[in-house]
Amino acid sequence: MANLYVKELDMINPFVIASSPATQWAKNVLKIAKCRPGAIVLRNFGHGAGGGSFIGPDANAMYTGKQAFHSHAIGTRITDHINSLEQYCEEIRKIKKNMDSDIKLWVSVGHYSDIVKGGNWEKDWINQAREIKNAGADALELHFNTPGVATMKNRSFNYYQLIYNCTKMMKEEVPGVPIMVKLAVEGCDPFTSIQVANLAGADAVGPTARWKAFYFDLDWRATQARPGGGYGGTQATPIVCYTIAETRSAGIKTPMYAGGGVFSYEQAARILMAGSQCVQVGALACAGGVSACERMIKNLDKWMDDNGYKDIDSLCGDALKLFNMSPEIANERTELLGKAYKNTDVVSDECIGCGNCVDVCWLEGIEMVGKKARKTDACIGCGYCFQVCPTKALYVDAGSILSSVFKKHGI
Ligand SMILES: Cc1cc2nc3c(=O)[nH]c(=O)nc-3n(C[C@H](O)[C@H](O)[C@H](O)COP(=O)(O)O)c2cc1C
Ligand code: SF4
Ligand code: SF4
Repeated sequence: MANLYVKELDMINPFVIASSPATQWAKNVLKIAKCRPGAIVLRNFGHGAGGGSFIGPDANAMYTGKQAFHSHAIGTRITDHINSLEQYCEEIRKIKKNMDSDIKLWVSVGHYSDIVKGGNWEKDWINQAREIKNAGADALELHFNTPGVATMKNRSFNYYQLIYNCTKMMKEEVPGVPIMVKLAVEGCDPFTSIQVANLAGADAVGPTARWKAFYFDLDWRATQARPGGGYGGTQATPIVCYTIAETRSAGIKTPMYAGGGVFSYEQAARILMAGSQCVQVGALACAGGVSACERMIKNLDKWMDDNGYKDIDSLCGDALKLFNMSPEIANERTELLGKAYKNTDVVSDECIGCGNCVDVCWLEGIEMVGKKARKTDACIGCGYCFQVCPTKALYVDAGSILSSVFKKHGI
């Protein structure tokens, strides 16, 4: 078994569950805790409960980590029964008393919509944070992710200044407890938001994505989803990975718990390999429940074992060498692959004569001779045709060609 312990945040594994209804109230936190994540973030006080969830195209696409999206869109909304800060702190005490003591409880303080509403929200946030800390939270989380950015009325509101001021305010007014700053990657420059949170003293940053979006089936009258600010999904992961890698490449070492589209161990591994120590889980927790999260944690462990990653340290940031590859090495890889594409002809026995290759060649580098394709001298090795061949008639082992350059350079 790989060692999933995250030393920077003293967590048993890198998974941070943040998604109501799975993280609403003690009862549900204790239920999702059965999957044994590293941390659970209790839903903000005073902002209602999460609603029903719509998964597109279906739950199986989510379970298997294939392209999937998710929104708050179906069913009756759940009613929150927590009406006072005292009651809320009682829930925190209940969780701390009954949850495995090696799982961390982070608690969200305030909500972006408080700011949009105006009033004396800073005072409220400080008061809430102090009470939450006294009730036993292991960390406080400032939630600057959506529905914040996606639903705020005035998009020109100074988001970066807000992150800086709020983080600094919490560090000064509520000392002695880690301040985790959950950030958006949509509607702002995520790297700037991380820099700002870091400057203000954040103990960890959590860039993640929830888009404002409009999904519908072509038979739009029968569609379940609706426009709203609650769309996550697998499309978020590459964007989040870019933000993480950019941050790490700039030398920012603040612990990170990035998320967005983490529906299987593959996306979790990518987020870790880009340089985040932890992984946030949203939709999978509420729409997949305990066993889906448990499976993801086990599968990451197994995959790490199978691939020689003995601990989180060895996995975290391992893909930064790819992100920061020198132009010379990048060119060497491209040239080697290009040569293979140019010099590899059609394996005639495998060719079914579909013509896909001829359709995508813009240089007359391939032609049909009877029912078989054949390269011509005009081929330059751009590689389009190799990607559309449904058989192995046009095939090169791109993986080993590309990795041979890294091997040669000792990477
Ligand atoms: C149904 C649902 C409820 C959520 N509730 C919360 C919440 O209560 N607190 C929070 O900080 N984030 C919440 N989120 C946001 C997630 O933590 C996460 O930032 C986001 O969902 C992106 O990741 P995903 O693609 O894994 O869902 C929620 C997300 C979903 C899908
Ligand atoms: S590699 Fe490019 S140029 Fe050569 S045949 Fe294929 S598509 Fe045409
Ligand atoms: S795409 Fe492949 S199978 Fe189809 S004609 Fe070209 S070489 Fe043959």
